[in-house]
Amino acid sequence: MNDVHDVIDGQLRTALAQLLDGLPPRKATAAVERLIANYRGKTPTEAPVLRDRADVVAYAAYRMPATFAAVSAALGALADRLDGWAPADHVDVGGGTGAATWATAATWDDAAPEGGVTRATTVLDWAAPALDLGRELAASSGSPALRAAEWRRRSLRSSGEPLPAADLVTVSYVLGELEPEDRRAVTDSAAGAGRAVVIVEPGTPDGYLRIREARETLTAAGLRVLAPCPHSGQCPIVPGEDWCHFAARVPRSSLHRQVKGGSLAYEDEKFAYVAAVRPELVPGTPAASRVVRRPVLRKGQVLLDLCTADEELRRTTVTKRHGADYKAARNTDWGDAWPPG
Ligand SMILES: C[S@@+](CC[C@H](N)C(=O)[O-])C[C@H]1O[C@@H](n2cnc3c(N)ncnc32)[C@H](O)[C@@H]1O
Repeated sequence: MNDVHDVIDGQLRTALAQLLDGLPPRKATAAVERLIANYRGKTPTEAPVLRDRADVVAYAAYRMPATFAAVSAALGALADRLDGWAPADHVDVGGGTGAATWATAATWDDAAPEGGVTRATTVLDWAAPALDLGRELAASSGSPALRAAEWRRRSLRSSGEPLPAADLVTVSYVLGELEPEDRRAVTDSAAGAGRAVVIVEPGTPDGYLRIREARETLTAAGLRVLAPCPHSGQCPIVPGEDWCHFAARVPRSSLHRQVKGGSLAYEDEKFAYVAAVRPELVPGTPAASRVVRRPVLRKGQVLLDLCTADEELRRTTVTKRHGADYKAARNTDWGDAWPPG
């Protein structure tokens, strides 16, 4: 992660900590527990789960650092595969309190040249309290694009209305809240609207299946996958046997420690994602292969589980005899491209 990322990350943490200022800890934990219980209930839902300010404060304080970290990792992986291209505008679908807009600001510095225009950002969601809080949080950020973002109420249920066109369209942690036909319609519409489309879901077997389905929709619409996959062909994973997912490290806030107990200073947010682009408009190339599990370090060797450009899953062993590659392998993490550079 770069300096811009760390600055935006710090600003988001400060804004979220201020939200809880003055809220008795017992009230904050009660709101989070109610939210978790709601999310365990029936989703997709008929009406927004985030109904009032207490719900959205709980969501933002409890979940936003994790969704921000996951989307930042997905956007970072995309940015690494692009030949210098950066989005000039962004539509965040089901954006809620705006985690993906913060992640976009953390990935692509949006400081406009003097007299120029900053990245135009639009957040779409059906939950007005989430949009209101998102706007409030964004106002405290140092990113001109975030501060100028438009927060627009919009339902994704059987609307038929196409999504607005943009260089970047993000859909993060939303598909699982939609009925299957709405899920397909939203992905289809995102494929038509975005020059680059990034979809993120929880790193569960079901989340992976939704990403797999979305990936098929994006490639059928002519997009090229740049991350995490090294190709746009058939995913080699057999559904039901395994699932493609990654992990982003998230420092725990005091609210997390109150709700979850224990003293761990961080947790790993597991996520699945796909990032694809219109190849005729956005220059970039996928990695030769990607590390799809945590590397196993042994004395004098590193075992890497790779997804490769020839549509296979393969384990490779890098030993001291491989010299520079061995050093690189020891610094390689789950989710990284291989070989690096
Ligand atoms: C789990 S939150 C994710 C929010 C944000 N994208 C993030 O990554 O933190 C799901 C969001 O999808 C929105 N959503 C769910 N169903 C929707 C629908 N039918 N129309 C519009 N927004 C919807 C919710 O209001 C909520 O803000």
